[in-house]
Amino acid sequence: MRESIKVFAPATVANVGCGYDVLGFALEGYGDELILTRRPDDRLVIASIEGVQGLPLDPLKNVSTVAINAFLTDLDLKQGFDLRIKKNIAAGSGLGSSASSAAAAVYAANEILGRPKGQLELINYAMAGEKLASTKAHADNVAPSILGGVTAVRSYEPLDVFNISYPESLKVVVIFPQIEIKTSDAKKILRDEVKLTDAVKQWGNMAGLISGLIEHDFERIGKSLQDVIVEPVRSILIPFYHQMKTLALEKGALGFSISGSGPSMFCFIKEEGASSEIIEAAQVLYGAYEIEVISFISGINKQGAKIIE
Ligand code: HSE
Repeated sequence: MRESIKVFAPATVANVGCGYDVLGFALEGYGDELILTRRPDDRLVIASIEGVQGLPLDPLKNVSTVAINAFLTDLDLKQGFDLRIKKNIAAGSGLGSSASSAAAAVYAANEILGRPKGQLELINYAMAGEKLASTKAHADNVAPSILGGVTAVRSYEPLDVFNISYPESLKVVVIFPQIEIKTSDAKKILRDEVKLTDAVKQWGNMAGLISGLIEHDFERIGKSLQDVIVEPVRSILIPFYHQMKTLALEKGALGFSISGSGPSMFCFIKEEGASSEIIEAAQVLYGAYEIEVISFISGINKQGAKIIE
């Protein structure tokens, strides 16, 4: 019986343009680590959080312990754990920070207990953690963080999630201006209703994006990375969003959109060479306004959550 386990769960890009609350993919090399150690009692204790200040240690208020608690309650198991969390993703970045912690927590708990649940079932418990962070349980970050690759949520009730194939040569450039946007705030500003004409455009782009990914049609991927419903509203929260988008498209990006609820933005690229010009353009644009920006290139992470020790 294992006493302790160390896992990694990747950061993610949710929505992927036209797929609000439905599409997401996992990033390579960027994510949270968590060490889970059995306790002799049934308490969940957050022993430490490194990397990010101000996250709650109270197990009722932290996404990781809320997610594990949902998992243990469903299993009807009285097992306590100590959690040591190392966060590499800033909260409110739009890169699935809370999802990565929730995904790591349930993944670790499932592994240490000998896998009583399948990977798809874990998404439900990680969503309980996400709900705490964003007031609404959505799976488009936790699903790719657990499963890896590109994922889609066909239905929430009942939950039906699956992976979509994609060209492995597809690369992503992430641009993260150093401001914080809370997902709960970014959700509140969206309208409850959409115009039918906008919905028709969004459905068309969604079909185009999925088809482009599966058929490795880069031109179709780029054309379909459009969001006529959420981007027009949320882009006002992101400084110089439209200028950054124009620059990235001029430098060869295959479409450009908001990552999750922002402020991070992302674009797909086919040639790695385009990334340095896009990153440079971001530095110049945001530098001129004294806004710090972190930009990086990534592939799509195929594996998702994994054991590292
Ligand atoms: N789908 C969620 C939203 C993702 O856009 O609100 C949050 O990162």
